[in-house]
Amino acid sequence: MIPTLKDVEIQGRRVLVRASLNVPVENGVIQDDFRLRESTATIRFLTERNAKCVVFGHLGRPAPIWEIHPVIRQGAPSHDGADPKELSLSPIAKRMEELLGKEVKFLADPIGEGVRKRIEAVQFGDVALLENIRFYYGEKENDPVFAKHLAALGDLYVNDAFAVCHRAHASVVGLPPLLPSAMGLLLEKEVSVLGKIRERPEKPMVVVVGGAKVETKAAFLTAISKHADVILLGNLISEEIKEKGLPAGRQGLQVVEDAELVYATDGVDGGFDLGPDTVQRFIGKMKGARTIFWAGPLGKIEEEKYEKGSLAVAEAILKSGAFAVAGGGDLGAFLNKHNLREKFDHVSTGGGAMLAFLAGEKLPGLEALEQ
Ligand code: 3PG
Repeated sequence: MIPTLKDVEIQGRRVLVRASLNVPVENGVIQDDFRLRESTATIRFLTERNAKCVVFGHLGRPAPIWEIHPVIRQGAPSHDGADPKELSLSPIAKRMEELLGKEVKFLADPIGEGVRKRIEAVQFGDVALLENIRFYYGEKENDPVFAKHLAALGDLYVNDAFAVCHRAHASVVGLPPLLPSAMGLLLEKEVSVLGKIRERPEKPMVVVVGGAKVETKAAFLTAISKHADVILLGNLISEEIKEKGLPAGRQGLQVVEDAELVYATDGVDGGFDLGPDTVQRFIGKMKGARTIFWAGPLGKIEEEKYEKGSLAVAEAILKSGAFAVAGGGDLGAFLNKHNLREKFDHVSTGGGAMLAFLAGEKLPGLEALEQ
């Protein structure tokens, strides 16, 4: 059992909150703040109980720029990665401030004594945000020296970052062995809703799978087919399966045995959107469902002219009255653009983590909290 916020002492403690801060940012402007909004519940819960919140997380895949200890540097991998200047969390701090309605102290230089002193200066009940954790050597390497440095900044560790629980990074798995730990409210919600989809959904359950790269979804398809009654497949993924077969044929066979696979059979402009026949067939298959889970857009939704199929499916899901869950960054942003995200019972903040969780894989972040 993973401890929740109800199981740990919060009052007057310095709480390290690992949050999902990895949001789309263009030229310093946040394009979709969904993950940030979803992260505020835990921070509010903690500050209302007089905890000092030290929030931290990553943005993108920067090249590390800081070393915390020479030992790490020796084994440090290449400097490959995006330009760190583009990936500062400073716009995130500003948006957090607006969402929380209180000051968020941004600690742009989070190394050494300086950061400890600045955290000391933060009042209990207030919030500080550390700079992008992937700027450090040691985060991705899960270096114990780095984890110890982080642990020294708090008395309690709270993981609220479901989206990154599939990564064995220091901020995800390095802290639970060093500090009393718990999952935050968002992580608790994700595990509870997706756990239900994975283990005991209300039946019948229809699963809609869009996007491409069937190989990244094979384990998920196999696992979900044990409980799904019907799996509806978008054009790209239908083509991939028809052309190449499901990866690892054995898994493919399991899928076919356990759930009805419904392929897209017509498309717009060679498959950039669902064709009208497929849309009607998909809608028909959703009737009477008690649970509908949707992962991945059903067309090239970056272009408005290819949105129709995904929109029709979204509306049919909501009309069906089924428990409606969707996930993945692109799909979440699409639903938001059409003011549909809030109408779903749950939209997961996870992408890869969500698929891995639903595939039954053990996520390192959750395992670390269990121990
Ligand atoms: C996220 O925040 O969306 C995940 O951690 C994925 O990002 P990554 O693949 O760079 O870890």
